Amino acid sequence: MDKIIIVGGEKLRGDVQISGAKNASLPVMVSALLAPGWSTFLNVPNLVDIKTIKKLLRNLGAKIEGEGTVRINTEDISKCEAPYDLVKTMRASVLVLGPLVARMGVARVSLPGGCAIGARPVNLHIKALQDLGAEVELKDGYVEAKARRLKGATIYFDIPTVTGTENIMMAACLADGTTLLKNAAMEPEVVNLANVLNGMGAKVTGAGTDIIRIDGVEKMHPVEAAVIPDRIEAGTFMIAVGMAGGDVRIMGCEPVHVEALTMKLRDAGMEITPFDGGIRTVAKKKIKSIDITTLPYPGFPTDLQAQMMALMSVANGLSVITETVFENRFMHVSELMRMGADILIHGNSAMVKGIPKLKGAPVMATDLRASASLILAGLAAEGKTELSRVYHIDRGYQEIEKKFSAIGANIKRVSG
Ligand code: UD1
Repeated sequence: MDKIIIVGGEKLRGDVQISGAKNASLPVMVSALLAPGWSTFLNVPNLVDIKTIKKLLRNLGAKIEGEGTVRINTEDISKCEAPYDLVKTMRASVLVLGPLVARMGVARVSLPGGCAIGARPVNLHIKALQDLGAEVELKDGYVEAKARRLKGATIYFDIPTVTGTENIMMAACLADGTTLLKNAAMEPEVVNLANVLNGMGAKVTGAGTDIIRIDGVEKMHPVEAAVIPDRIEAGTFMIAVGMAGGDVRIMGCEPVHVEALTMKLRDAGMEITPFDGGIRTVAKKKIKSIDITTLPYPGFPTDLQAQMMALMSVANGLSVITETVFENRFMHVSELMRMGADILIHGNSAMVKGIPKLKGAPVMATDLRASASLILAGLAAEGKTELSRVYHIDRGYQEIEKKFSAIGANIKRVSG
């Protein structure tokens, strides 16, 4: 299995190009299920999760071509099932549930089960689909849903769920009548999906606010559309500059999407300057400790919590990091502590006491964002860090070691 080896201490300098967003590509690619014919999606990152969604769509009968620019044709759907082995490798596979029921009248999707960062149920997806008139049964670990035609309804999400909002927004596009999604997720990826759906002939308004209105249409048509830049990848590089020091231009990202992080990094003493085409990120001084609470967008993203904790572990002072989105997202703590970090967990908060320097160590990735935090820790640590189980990082970061190495880090991948 591959490992990533980092020798810490190099400052980061130069330009890094941000890829398309994984979390936007997945629903956007799935949306092709609603619009028979060839759709074309631009700026799709080259990641393991993208391969998984392609496999799932092909399994349903879709034809798919290309990398980066991906063409998908869902004219002939021969199966309406997302099997357990695909859903358990990637929970976002559940996104096919809504579109399949809306277009085919039936879907059978495996329940994902727990994952490293918490229980992560899909009860809100299911409840909303029932509100749209689908009959839903749980059988042999699968959600089985059917509906002759879904019917528009007002749906209230108890929690603003990102993939839940996307799933039901897609389903409602082909429903009879108007659907209102209340307490909807406001993430930029939801807006990206709504724009793609509208390009396919859907009538979606309000995406990006907490109330989304969908007026059902009879039919949708293929589209050519682009995926937004990955705000989590951009944020990871911004935090990396804080950890290693230096001056890096994060190219091709959308500054508004990382505003919550920008404000926090400025409070921590970094210089963050958006310009046309990216964000210049400079760290000259010792980082000051700041407190963080994760929240749904536009709050501070949970997907940057682990990376921020790595940064706070070498900051000046005490930081309190509170995780409110997932109940078990502190798996990186014990690995950071192996590198010398001083962290105490109390409930859903972590008290991080900054130390002058982390020390390189063999560490193990436990989930996607946790692995990113360990790479950042390695960049700032004294000596060598060896990260194993790097398949987690390959799910969501395109060639992360090449991107870091191009801006001056001493990092390489070894297979073994
Ligand atoms: C998406 C992102 C993930 C990110 C997360 C939160 C994708 C592919 N993944 O995941 O990277 O970390 O948003 O920003 O876009 N919940 C329920 N019942 C449900 C659905 C969710 O209780 O039916 C809970 C979850 O357990 C969690 C919270 O709602 O506590 C938010 O989760 P959600 O927004 O649904 O996360 P995902 O869409 O799975």
